[in-house]
Amino acid sequence: MTTIEAPRTPARPARKGVNWEKWGWIYMRASGLVLIVLIFGHLLINLVLGEGVKQIDFAFVAGKYATPFWQVWDLLMLWLALIHGGNGMRTLVNDYAHNRTVNRILRWAIYAAVIVLIVLGTLVIFTFDPCPAGAAADQLPSFCPAR
Ligand code: HEM
Repeated sequence: MTTIEAPRTPARPARKGVNWEKWGWIYMRASGLVLIVLIFGHLLINLVLGEGVKQIDFAFVAGKYATPFWQVWDLLMLWLALIHGGNGMRTLVNDYAHNRTVNRILRWAIYAAVIVLIVLGTLVIFTFDPCPAGAAADQLPSFCPAR
């Protein structure tokens, strides 16, 4: 006879300390809610309002990154979405990659990708300068004072 366990029986005996899987579960829901506002706000501002997709060029991006509001908006979107996507992919790997070595390689590839993209994206948001001092005038966009 096959005995089916009660639905809430833990897969492993409960361990002491922080329950990271529970906080990961909560993070996916909380970040998902914030991402709805951030992503749809981003799409509305970039693609719908004003001249729509035609307005997106170097000057448009430069204008947005000249304001702390859009820097913080994009920073939040970058961090929340990458950690959300990385944690979601980690869940998929744990669900499907049963081989220990494959599981470990895939998980570390995800961690590496998330860290590299967060570091690079954060650097771009805070160091982007459309009119770098000392650049040749003919290489600068038309809105720079040095042109
Ligand atoms: C519009 C905002 C978003 C909402 C409301 C949202 C919501 C969620 C929720 C609630 C889960 C958990 C599902 C579960 O545990 O069964 C999830 C999983 C996931 N999300 Fe998002 N998400 C959003 C945006 C994103 C973005 C931008 C990415 C990619 C960077 C992403 C990648 C993933 C992945 C890879 C999973 C795991 C898939 C799975 O468990 O089957 N999500 N999302």
